[in-house]
Amino acid sequence: MPLKSVSIIGAGKLGASLGHALARKGYDIKGLFCRRLSSARESARLIGRGKATAGVVRAARDADILFLCVPDDSVAKTAALLAASSIDWRGRTVFHSSGLLPARALAPLREKGAFTASFHPIQTFARKEARPDLFKGIGYGLEGDAEALMTAGKIVRRLGGRALFLAEADKPLYHAACVLCSGGAAALLGSAFALLESRGLGEKEASEVLLPLAQRTLQNVKEIGAGPAVTGPFVRGDVRTVLVHLRALPAKGFWRDLYAALGRRSLETSGKRGLPPQAIRTLRKILEDR
Ligand SMILES: NC(=O)c1ccc[n+]([C@@H]2O[C@H](COP(=O)([O-])OP(=O)(O)OC[C@H]3O[C@@H](n4cnc5c(N)ncnc54)[C@H](OP(=O)(O)O)[C@@H]3O)[C@@H](O)[C@H]2O)c1
Repeated sequence: MPLKSVSIIGAGKLGASLGHALARKGYDIKGLFCRRLSSARESARLIGRGKATAGVVRAARDADILFLCVPDDSVAKTAALLAASSIDWRGRTVFHSSGLLPARALAPLREKGAFTASFHPIQTFARKEARPDLFKGIGYGLEGDAEALMTAGKIVRRLGGRALFLAEADKPLYHAACVLCSGGAAALLGSAFALLESRGLGEKEASEVLLPLAQRTLQNVKEIGAGPAVTGPFVRGDVRTVLVHLRALPAKGFWRDLYAALGRRSLETSGKRGLPPQAIRTLRKILEDR
C-alpha cells in the first residue's frame, strides 16, 4: 500500500528536515508552506519534493497528514485558520511539533473531524538539514487522540525512533527537561568557553580545548549514568578548590549562581559516592555563602 501524503505547514528548521526524512522513507510530500515563498522554495529544494507555497490552505489541501511546524505562538492561530477553510477535515490527521503545547491547541481542527496529536522529535535542529539520521534512534514525545497516536506511532517506527506517550499535564516538565538538555547544555558550554575567552583565548581555541572534555563527559553519561559521570571537586570533597573557583569567578552576572547551582546538584550524588556528610555540609555552606 502506498504511504500517506504529507504536507508541512511551517517548513522551517524542523519542518524542512522532517519533510526530507519522511520523503526518504517513502511518504508522498505535497504542500510546503512558509511565510516567505523564498523560504518554502529553499525547503522544497532541500527535500527534493513538494510544492512550495506561501498559502497555508493551499499547502494543506491535498494531504492525508499535516505537520504544523510553525512557531509555538502561531499553532492555535494556524489551526483556526485551517479549520475555517473549505477543506473537509474528516479522516485527516494533523500534528503540531511543539514539545510544550497540548494537542488541544488543534481543537478547531478536531471539531471539524480531524484526528489530532502533538508530535515532538526530541532532537535539535539549528538549521534546515537533509540528514535523516537526525530522526533515527531518537525519542518522540506524543500526546493526543487514539487515532492520531496510532498514525504517529507508525511514523516514528518508520523513522527508526522511539515513541514516548505523554499525558498533557506532564508536558511542561517534559519540555523543560528537553530544553535543559539542548539549549541549556549549549548555553553552559558557551559559558565555560567564555571564561577561557576572558583570559585571552580565541573562541575557536576555547571550544577546541573544552569540547573533548564535554564529549567524553557525555559518553560517560551514556555508558555509566549521569550520577557516576560527575567528577571534580564536589565528589572529591576538594573544599579549597571550590573556594578558589568562587573567588575567581566574576562577582557580577550569573557565574557564581550557575557554579553554585551545578555544585549543589553534584553534591546530591556525592553522598552516594562515599563523600563524608561533614564534607558535603561544608561544601553546601560555601556555596550558600558565595
Ligand atoms: N528547531 C528545533 O530544534 C525544534 C525541535 C523540536 C520541535 N520544534 C518545534 O517545531 C516548531 C517550529 O520550530 P522551528 O525551530 O523549526 O522554527 P522555524 O525554523 O522558525 O520555522 C518556522 C516555520 O513557520 C513559519 N512561520 C514563522 N512565523 C509564522 C507565523 N506567524 N505564522 C505561520 N507560519 C510562520 C516559517 O516561515 P518562514 O521560513 O518564511 O519564516 C517557517 O516555515 C516549534 O513548535 C518548535 O517548538 C523545534
